[in-house]
Amino acid sequence: METPMLKQLQNRKSIRQFTGEAVSEEDLQLILKTAQRAPTSINGQQISLVYTKDKAKLQQIAQLCGGQAHIATADVFVGIIIDFNRTSAIVESIGKHHVIEQSAEGIMVGAVDAGIMLNHLQSAAEALGYGTTAIGAVRGKSDEMVSFFNLPAKTFLAVGCTIGVATETAKNAPLKPRVAFDTFAMQGVYDSDKVRQGALAYELTLKEFRDKTGSGSMPTYATITSNYYADGYYRKTAKTLMAQGFAFKDE
Ligand SMILES: Cc1cc2nc3c(=O)[nH]c(=O)nc-3n(C[C@H](O)[C@H](O)[C@H](O)COP(=O)(O)O)c2cc1C
Repeated sequence: METPMLKQLQNRKSIRQFTGEAVSEEDLQLILKTAQRAPTSINGQQISLVYTKDKAKLQQIAQLCGGQAHIATADVFVGIIIDFNRTSAIVESIGKHHVIEQSAEGIMVGAVDAGIMLNHLQSAAEALGYGTTAIGAVRGKSDEMVSFFNLPAKTFLAVGCTIGVATETAKNAPLKPRVAFDTFAMQGVYDSDKVRQGALAYELTLKEFRDKTGSGSMPTYATITSNYYADGYYRKTAKTLMAQGFAFKDE
C-alpha cells in the first residue's frame, strides 16, 4: 500500500544543495510546532530547540561544524538540545535534587529523545517540500557551541538540522542504497553472521552506486566507516558533557 507519508519517508534523502530561497516564517513555525508533538521519555520533554535564520550565524555554525559549507547555504539551522535544565526546574520545585544527567540512562534518554526530535523535524520540513540534513558535526566543537547558543548547565547540543529549498539537482539525486534488507530487519533473534556478511556485501553495493552516479572518488563504506570508527572522533564530547554537569556515576 502506498500513502503520501510512506512515499515521503521512502524517498527521504539528505539535501546539501539549496536554492537560497527562504523557508517562510509560517512554514517554519508549523515545522517547529509539529516537531514538538514528538514523544519524549516519561513526558519529561527534555529537548529544546534553538534555531536561527541569520546568515552570519549560519556561516559561523558551518565553520564550527568543521567547515561544512552546505550549512551556510541553508535557510534555517535548528539545534536540538538535550535539556535537563527544564526537568531540573520542576524537580527542584518540590525540593528534590535532579541527578539523572549523571547516569548512562540520562545520557541515553537525552540522546534517544534528540534523535526522535530530529526525525520529527526533518519529516515535518520534508512534508512541506523542504530539504534537510542532520548535522552531527555540531559535537565537533561542542564546547564552543555551548557559548554560541548560551547553553546552561544540564544541557547539551546533541545534533542539528538544516532546512532549506532543495535545488532540482539535489531533489532528483538518486537515493543512497542501504544494506540488504534481510541483514537489517531480522525476525525473532539477531543473526550476527548475516549482519556481518551484509556489511561486506554493502561495500560493493555502495561502490557500484558511486560509480553509477559519478561519485566514484567518494570514500567507500569501509573507508568512511573506519575513518570515524577505527579511531575516536568529536573527542570533546565527554569533556563538554562533564563541564555541563553530565557524568557516568552509575554503580
Ligand atoms: C545523527 C546524524 C548526524 C549526521 N551528521 C551529518 C553531518 O554533520 N553532515 C552531513 O552532511 N550529513 C550528516 N548526516 C547525514 C548522513 O550522512 C546521511 O543520512 C547518510 O549519508 C545517508 O544518506 P541519506 O540521508 O541521503 O540517505 C547525519 C545523519 C544523522 C542521522
